[in-house]
Amino acid sequence: MIVNSKEILLKAKENKYAIPHFNINNLEWAKYILEKCNELNVPVILGVSESASKYMGGFNAIYGMVNGLIEDLNITIPVVLHVDHGSSFETCKKAIDAGFSSVMIDASRHELSENIRITKEVVDYAHTKNVTVEAEVGHIGGTEDNITNTSTNATLEDCLTLYENTNIDSLAPALGSVHGFYKGEPNLDFVTMKQINENLEIPLVLHGGTGIPNDKIEKAIACGISKININTELQATWSKAVKEFLQANPQAIDPRKIIGSGEEALKSRIAEIISLFKTKI
Ligand code: 13P
Repeated sequence: MIVNSKEILLKAKENKYAIPHFNINNLEWAKYILEKCNELNVPVILGVSESASKYMGGFNAIYGMVNGLIEDLNITIPVVLHVDHGSSFETCKKAIDAGFSSVMIDASRHELSENIRITKEVVDYAHTKNVTVEAEVGHIGGTEDNITNTSTNATLEDCLTLYENTNIDSLAPALGSVHGFYKGEPNLDFVTMKQINENLEIPLVLHGGTGIPNDKIEKAIACGISKININTELQATWSKAVKEFLQANPQAIDPRKIIGSGEEALKSRIAEIISLFKTKI
């Protein structure tokens, strides 16, 4: 069933585990992720970036695809269909009107006051439709969709100000993680992470999950992270398997065989991530 993220994230915060957010790119990825998470009986958040949404046709097409997969595959776990880094009220509204159960409004490129104004507009609309909202404070840099940005870390004060003025449901504070692969060891600010968690009742989100060593993921969860976003790592895992298949089978032309040759690698990496996150239903 498609649900919003409220209950599963609050439960994760209370019991100190993390819910995985996996970005989807097409029907096959959505299917593999749903099948594996259902087999392991854990909730999952399917993240859809604006560019992935355009690639797949739009929010209505994605809602229809995910909803249909849940029905046809008898998926019984809670599934959150979530916009990743929605850049405007209009984008978030489009996704909500199409049936998405959760949105991230990322107005972190603006000054805090403007971030608050845009985020509040999204929350006011989303909450009338029972849709949950994630926001970002500070700015998470790195490379995403081939665009490279620099990071600015969040402060406890800015996190509290944004929360108190918007009533968001979860918060992604920028604390040293970046999108894409890391150059060197990730340097996460666990002290501020713990402080924000102790002072905010809503769950915290860690973006840029790819490449963070296991011990730092465990520490982030212990410091109060309840949702971890993974994108690049699954792309790398799937591509490696598909490249190997094509090298071994240069005559292959059936798209189902080519795309499907990454299925097992993707599913086994998903299982490892879920075991690391200690995700529960
Ligand atoms: P990675 O691509 O680094 O895993 O980050 C994903 C992410 O944070 C999506 O919002």
